[in-house]
Amino acid sequence: MTKCVVLADPRGFCAGVDRAILTVQTILKAAASSNKLVREDGLPPVYVRRQIVHNKHVVEDLASQGAVFVQELSEIPDAAAAAGIPVVFSAHGVSPEVKDEAKRRGMHVVDATCPLVGKVHREVLRFVREGYEIVYIGHKGHDEAVGVVGESPEHVHLIEHADDVASLNFTPETKLVLLSQTTLSVDETAGTIAALKARFPWMEEPPSSDICYATSNRQAAVKLVAQQSDCVVIVGSANSSNSVRLMEVAQEGLGERGKAYRVDDASELDPEWFTDVEAVGISSGASVPDELVSGVIDALQSQGFTGMKSVETIKENMHFVLPAELRRR
Ligand code: F3S
Repeated sequence: MTKCVVLADPRGFCAGVDRAILTVQTILKAAASSNKLVREDGLPPVYVRRQIVHNKHVVEDLASQGAVFVQELSEIPDAAAAAGIPVVFSAHGVSPEVKDEAKRRGMHVVDATCPLVGKVHREVLRFVREGYEIVYIGHKGHDEAVGVVGESPEHVHLIEHADDVASLNFTPETKLVLLSQTTLSVDETAGTIAALKARFPWMEEPPSSDICYATSNRQAAVKLVAQQSDCVVIVGSANSSNSVRLMEVAQEGLGERGKAYRVDDASELDPEWFTDVEAVGISSGASVPDELVSGVIDALQSQGFTGMKSVETIKENMHFVLPAELRRR
């Protein structure tokens, strides 16, 4: 039997990541066309707060074109604000505190927060205005969760798993609503929601799930891929929430039959993983360029996985326009 690769479709870039990367590229292109990629004052053409998307290859590529990545706005000199150097906020969003700091310092902000993350921020503000306490399922310390909780730290109660439900205490008089991070595991979250509903039956949910279309579509596809594979390789960085969730979903689908791995690129593949394997499933996180997946496929082909099969679950046609700050230019 021909050994083969089973490729998940959809995989890779989502509309929010596409938009965030294009945002930085558009600024770099404008700087190049006005000969401002290298400036006399030594300032870069653009600063980006945090990784624009959680993929080290994407970040390295944009950095090699001149973008300077910082962890905090405090690393950006005042001269940059005075010179009108754009500061891009990453796809994961920021807390109001960060926005206030940028405003106070007169920075020229271009906000590349994914519109679907922005929707959760707006939900927090609306529900707090209406007197709700918010239970937010997310990952502590993840940029997206930090930004959302920052909208109203006293009214947003972050939990990670079903086990954390016991730590919450609300009486039936408290208006309660559930929100979540956009990149969670659909199945795991369903378990957490069931535990929450058992404890707080009056808890409400927003009109539509906060787990985004790209996360759910990629998880649904990798589930089918895992059923048809002996092991699965997910391409994506360790700090990419949706990539790590894909690996977990794949592992669940494989069960005892095999193992799911996550790699940043082909260089991290270990040939030993594929001993006695006939079919290798492949998918990639929403922040992963497809050339990294191609690199993994090439490496597997050179190890004898010459067959190729695609498992397509849905056609995506989501697209987000560039941030308003760029459209006004
Ligand atoms: Fe946005 Fe979902 Fe991608 S929230 S950045 S579309 S993974």
